[in-house]
Amino acid sequence: MTTFTRPGKIALLGYSIETMEAAQALGYDFVVVVPPGFEEGLQKEGINAISWEFDKLSQDSTHLREQLQALGCRLAVPLYEECVEWAGALNAVFLDEPRLFNRTLLLRDKGMMKRKAQLSGIRVGVFEEVDAPADLLRFFRRVNEAQSRIEGDELDLVHVKPLRAAGSVGHRVIRTEEDVAEIPVDAFPLLAETHLGGQEFSCEAFIHGGKIQFMNVNEYVHLGYSQVTPATPDLEAQRPKIRKAVEQLVKAFDIRYGVIHPEFFLDAEGELAFGEVANRVPGGHIFELIQRAYGFDTYQALLLSADPLTPQAELDAFFPDEVSGRQGYAGNCLVFPKPGVVTGLNVPDELTLHPCFEKHSLFEPMAHKVIKRTGFGNHYGTLFFFGEDPQEVRDAVAHFEDVEFFQRAAQLT
Ligand SMILES: Nc1ncnc2c1ncn2[C@@H]1O[C@H](COP(=O)(O)OP(=O)(O)O)[C@@H](O)[C@H]1O
Ligand SMILES: [Mg+2]
Repeated sequence: MTTFTRPGKIALLGYSIETMEAAQALGYDFVVVVPPGFEEGLQKEGINAISWEFDKLSQDSTHLREQLQALGCRLAVPLYEECVEWAGALNAVFLDEPRLFNRTLLLRDKGMMKRKAQLSGIRVGVFEEVDAPADLLRFFRRVNEAQSRIEGDELDLVHVKPLRAAGSVGHRVIRTEEDVAEIPVDAFPLLAETHLGGQEFSCEAFIHGGKIQFMNVNEYVHLGYSQVTPATPDLEAQRPKIRKAVEQLVKAFDIRYGVIHPEFFLDAEGELAFGEVANRVPGGHIFELIQRAYGFDTYQALLLSADPLTPQAELDAFFPDEVSGRQGYAGNCLVFPKPGVVTGLNVPDELTLHPCFEKHSLFEPMAHKVIKRTGFGNHYGTLFFFGEDPQEVRDAVAHFEDVEFFQRAAQLT
């Protein structure tokens, strides 16, 4: 706990209790900007809060900036995907960097992001923004022609996804021409990209002054369901290469401050390809995993790296060494019930007695029917594991992903 107050005030864009606590612990004077309806409760608790509709494009950011400037804010820190461009617009003025807003927009459009990465010499798939089914069909055919596929061959996959989305919402794999016809016309425009093979993983890099202060490698065991941080030895061995790729990204996107969460693919030849990058708190409780594995408060880390006024000495003292500072491996598993009617919770001893098990956030559900989800949707709870043996943690998260945690009504559907 620090006892000094940092200069000026910062604005936290988005509702995050962990970040508010981190700001308090670091001695920040702060304002939170939250969606309408959330500010009153916070004000009652003595927290300086204003509301803003981040997902409404018609509002002008000048109004938000004026309010924050009147309150004495000098910096905006984005916490969620939809706050990123607002932070860019605000910080362009607060930090007197006119291009900052445009740079943040690159991070909010998957096509622009890929193009910028490619222009900077980063390896990406072959991609195109497609406005209509006919464009996608042409792209799919051209990719397969380029691969000299003939009738009877298995075709190359193409991935499509909305230009602005997160959490795999709207992501589809095109395997045949018929798959194209199944996409609703109003889902377009989409980004189409050739398949990137290999092992997918993410990084969480805390950047300050354009320099990586700390980088975690997070291994997806099963994307969207289970992961281990830091990565197990095979992937961890690639850390120097991964670090170079992240440095390349930082340079390409001219990222000076804050946390970035890129995703990469490592192919069988050991080459990296870039998936995408976000400039906010990562999903899937990755911050909790890093905190458990390395023992520092990731939300404090986010604020310290987002703030240009943080002295380098403070960052040096704050972050542990990426390798020797590791206290163990933290893994988690997001629980999604299988479709059907759920009537209760059933946590088996096999979980609670597992040597790596730490805690879970499953709760007793009201009886209900599980609806089909889009993207990763909302999980029903998370299981957390920790251990010194990376393989044991990895095996645990992979195993419990398939365990049934809910009681079910007999075929009431
Ligand atoms: N070109 C691709 N090659 C292989 N897998 C892909 C490709 N595009 C998307 N995916 C898969 O779909 C997931 C979601 O796509 P991504 O671009 O990360 O969007 P989101 O913002 O929804 O996370 C990726 O994590 C990856 O597993
Ligand atoms: Mg992604």
